Amino acid sequence: MTEPIVIAIDGPSGSGKSSTSRGVADRLGLAYLDTGSMYRAMTLAMLRAGVDLDDPKAIAAAVPTATIHAGTHPLNPTIELNGVDVAEAIRTSEVTAAVSKVAAVPAVRTVLVESQKLAIDTAIAGIVIEGRDIGTVVAPNATLKIYLYADPVARAQRRAAEMGVDDEEAMREALALRDAIDSNRAASPLKQSADAVLVDGTHQTLAEVIDAIVAMLPEANG
Ligand code: DC
Repeated sequence: MTEPIVIAIDGPSGSGKSSTSRGVADRLGLAYLDTGSMYRAMTLAMLRAGVDLDDPKAIAAAVPTATIHAGTHPLNPTIELNGVDVAEAIRTSEVTAAVSKVAAVPAVRTVLVESQKLAIDTAIAGIVIEGRDIGTVVAPNATLKIYLYADPVARAQRRAAEMGVDDEEAMREALALRDAIDSNRAASPLKQSADAVLVDGTHQTLAEVIDAIVAMLPEANG
């Protein structure tokens, strides 16, 4: 039996990680896990419970009240909070603005990383898993590690178009702020793993990036 394939895709907000990861998983018949959706669901739970997000101890204390489950089908990735679908609720600007604070709390990361490792261990053919700390912390032994980059202008343009927002300058600032918090936190910061391949998607189409990643797998090259 061949070993399950684990592809770790990390990178900053708006670099195209989700579309790329889903495309690679679909092409290769693998599961897909969006770990960012799990941090967003935890943030939604904190907001709904009225937890003070400037108080890491209060966030840590509320973690056990949230049960989060992410479905792993690349064409229909689901996300549930306490058994209820929250796919839309986690994409609001309120959650997006708050998520970096919640993701910086170690007690949050411990619980979610455990669940992410379980998803990796139970994916029979393998999995494409995207986030910020996948190559460094969640899947240090991944078959292939990618750090997906795109320049800040391209990222802001892409996110603004996705969200139907006109103000690209404001989008660029919001992304820069989130990246700064995600990159400078003490617990598992966003950082390129030493053994990750840097892919710059700034001037490539989605299909080109997917092709490039699939071609990096030893299996794809005979
Ligand atoms: O990928 P995204 O924008 O949906 O992620 C939302 C936030 O979650 C992001 O600001 C950083 C955090 N995150 C994280 O800390 N670790 C991960 N593995 C994935 C996301």
